[in-house]
Amino acid sequence: MKLTILGGGGFRVPLVYGALLTDRGEGRVTEVVLHDLDDSRLYAVARVLAEQAATVPDAPTVTATTDLDEALRGADFIFSAIRVGGLEGRANDERVALAEGVLGQETVGAGGIAYGLRTVPVAVDIARRVARLAPDAWVINFTNPAGLVTEAMSRHLGDRVIGICDSPVGLGRRIAKVLGANPREAFIDYVGLNHLGWVRGLRVAGRDELPRLLADPDLLGSFEEGKLFGTDWLQSLGAIPNEYLHYYYFNRETVRAYSEVERTRGAFLRDQQAQFYDEMKRPDASALTVWDRTRAEREATYMSENRETAGAGERDADDLSGGYEKVALALMRAIARDERTTLILNVRNQGALSVLDTDAVIEVPCLVDANGAHPVAVDPLPDHATGLVCAVKGVEREVLAAAESGSRTTAVKAFALHPLVDSVNVARRLVEGYSEVHPGLAYLK
Ligand code: G6P
Ligand code: MN
Repeated sequence: MKLTILGGGGFRVPLVYGALLTDRGEGRVTEVVLHDLDDSRLYAVARVLAEQAATVPDAPTVTATTDLDEALRGADFIFSAIRVGGLEGRANDERVALAEGVLGQETVGAGGIAYGLRTVPVAVDIARRVARLAPDAWVINFTNPAGLVTEAMSRHLGDRVIGICDSPVGLGRRIAKVLGANPREAFIDYVGLNHLGWVRGLRVAGRDELPRLLADPDLLGSFEEGKLFGTDWLQSLGAIPNEYLHYYYFNRETVRAYSEVERTRGAFLRDQQAQFYDEMKRPDASALTVWDRTRAEREATYMSENRETAGAGERDADDLSGGYEKVALALMRAIARDERTTLILNVRNQGALSVLDTDAVIEVPCLVDANGAHPVAVDPLPDHATGLVCAVKGVEREVLAAAESGSRTTAVKAFALHPLVDSVNVARRLVEGYSEVHPGLAYLK
């Protein structure tokens, strides 16, 4: 079984490889191909993987290449985890937006649109090549903004591309834990778009346990989302939102917090990661130790500005291990070995959320087996959530249209229609500002 990782020089690749090393079963991945545009990043990550594999018999082999077509040929699974424009691009996404007083987060608001506009053309090119060179491969898309990018790729790959995110999994796990339920036995009733979804129920043995949580302020205030959103607001909503909804429900505070920090998340990671890749050039450095130290620091500071505005304090130790790689492995196993399971994934709607058309990619529990991921029918969202989901899907569609046509006017429309961009004039200036700093937007005319 051959797994190709696009963005193979990326920092989170050792998480995926670490998960593969725990898989001893029949039909496991035996061959990993890393693809990246940058040789030195491939070299750095390959060093970490070699140390991870050192004590594991029959560890999957690792090869690296900068030739995309070669990487794709013969792949059974393709993970796409690329970052177009790098972390410098992410920092610029934030900076340009904040200068206009709006959010520049990598997936939400203006920042997410800018990142989407430069990523979609690259993702579409990859999808076309996959369709030609590896038509039987399954593509697992990690690349953010994950819902939008998955939808762009699905136009060329249909249901053979599946988007993943660790946020809903972490959320479901935290809720199950405070309720004393086993996450493996719970059905998480969650739906929305990527980074824009709500848990409306958590069923164990046929009973919805969420009302018990919503009725208990102590329990509700004891985990990440309770601290972030506040118990009163969760009780008002009658649901637990994905952590990224903090940027919507507390937009003013998060924009202010991000404007006041010395370095935004993107700028912090740009510097932190540059240091990691530099250290990897030193032959005497212990690759795994340096990687792990860097990872721990990255995870501990995740969404720290949001937590600060909410007075939420440090992250719980249990929340630090993400789970990103576990979703990916669970998905691959379910498909490759027909091990039926239910996972929250980004797939084409196909009627699951009736307010959107069948081709709209949504984030929803799916039944996964050798035939792929099948969305489970869910209850409709309340009006306020439907409104947000439809507005943001409308924006995503404008981004896809702008990427296809190269129309600057359409790009302005995408920004202007976003609920977190408060003026058409701001949208116009954002397109100008982003075009100046991102070579990847030169196609907008
Ligand atoms: C979560 C999200 C991912 C995102 C990551 C960002 O895991 O679900 O979509 O890539 O956070 O973390 P970072 O350390 O890059 O800020
Ligand atoms: Mn995500």
